[in-house]
Amino acid sequence: MTDFCASHGKAEISLTVNGEPKQIRAYPMERLLDVLRLECGLTGAKEGCGEGECGSCSVLMDGALVNSCLVPVLQAAGTNIVTIEGLAAGETLHGMQQAFLECGGAQCGICTPGMILAAVHLLNGQAEPTMEEIREGLSGNLCRCTGYTQILEAVAEAARRRPTVRTTA
Ligand code: FES
Ligand code: FES
Repeated sequence: MTDFCASHGKAEISLTVNGEPKQIRAYPMERLLDVLRLECGLTGAKEGCGEGECGSCSVLMDGALVNSCLVPVLQAAGTNIVTIEGLAAGETLHGMQQAFLECGGAQCGICTPGMILAAVHLLNGQAEPTMEEIREGLSGNLCRCTGYTQILEAVAEAARRRPTVRTTA
C-alpha cells in the first residue's frame, strides 16, 4: 500500500477515494486535504482554519469523520475516503444534499461539504437522532452564515425521510 522513493522523499500511496482506487505520489506528511484537492481534483473539501477547528475540510475515512487538514496522507494509505463528491449518484443528489437544498442549509457554501459529511456520519450511526444529538453530531463543524437553524432542520428532515431516501454513506 506504501512504497517509499528515497531519492525524492516521496512515497507511492494507495487509497480508495469515492470508490475509485488511487495511486498517489506524495510526501508522507502532506495533508490529505491538499492531496484530495490538488492531486485528485476534488475541491469539495474546503480549507477554513487549517488547524482542526472548523470542520470545513471534513471527509469520511473508513467511515470515521476526520478533519483532512490534520491527516498526513501516509495515515490515509489503504483507507477508503469519501468526500462530498462521492455522495451523489450521477445527477441524483444524495438525500442529505437534497434536504440541505430544500431547507436552506447552505448559504456561502464553505462549511456545507463538511457539514453534510458530518450529518451523514451522524445518521450512519444513529437512525433517529434527537435535535440535541444532531447539534452534538455537528458540533465540530462551524458555520458563519446560517445561524445553524436551517442546517439542523435539514438533518432532521433527512432523518425523517429514512428509509425511503438514502441519507448515509
Ligand atoms: S480546515 Fe480543517 S478543521 Fe478547519
Ligand atoms: S454557509 Fe457559509 S459558512 Fe456555512
